[in-house]
Amino acid sequence: MKLLLTALKHTRKPTVYIGRRCCSSPSSSSRGLPSLQDEVIVGSSLELVQTLGSQVQVRPGFISEEEEAALLQELEPGLRKKRYEFDHWDDAIHGYRETERLRWGPVCEEILNRVRSVAFPQGGPLLGPVHVLDLDKAGYIKPHVDSVKFCGSTIAGLSLLSDSIMRLVKDDAPNEWLDLLLTRRSLYILRDQARYNFSHEILKDEESVFNGQRVPRQRRISVICRNLPG
Ligand code: OGA
Ligand code: MN
Repeated sequence: MKLLLTALKHTRKPTVYIGRRCCSSPSSSSRGLPSLQDEVIVGSSLELVQTLGSQVQVRPGFISEEEEAALLQELEPGLRKKRYEFDHWDDAIHGYRETERLRWGPVCEEILNRVRSVAFPQGGPLLGPVHVLDLDKAGYIKPHVDSVKFCGSTIAGLSLLSDSIMRLVKDDAPNEWLDLLLTRRSLYILRDQARYNFSHEILKDEESVFNGQRVPRQRRISVICRNLPG
């Protein structure tokens, strides 16, 4: 797994985008930007929200408070032994510690099986270990695309401890973007174009605003399942 982690890190080169969000569309509703899925996804245009919408899902409240506690109980002892990394300026992630876990206790295994069953086609090959990323309150993830060499078409992540905003920006058209409101205990799924043709990032606390509304960012742990390239 060391190889995979190194490769993932290596491909997390920040992409710099200038001039995104240049102009709000005149067709935006009075409540703000075009949105979908009960206001957990907003975007630069209704068309983008509708077309990309099938490849992006946010499911608020996917796990219960008890399930969140069970995941934390299993993860905290290992995470606590690590230090948050802040000083690698060229890293795509700032203020984080991470781990991978292959074997889980029965409660957590059941949760992960639920994630797998909604996010991935049955029987498809999955990346064995689950990736756990612990972002400090001051941490954030810069725009990147996950390694196409090591990860397949689908990324599914649970968010623990904090709400946050994931921003997707189109590679060759930086004014095309979606913001996802990843509420605490939600599941998000990125597939196909949303995974390959858009960068994704997790906004830092100071920039954490969803559809005009401030969303304070606390420490956040994500539990991410991926499949293997086909
Ligand atoms: C990653 C990533 C998103 C998240 O680790 O590649 O994009 O939800 N993580 O933590
Ligand atoms: Mn990623």
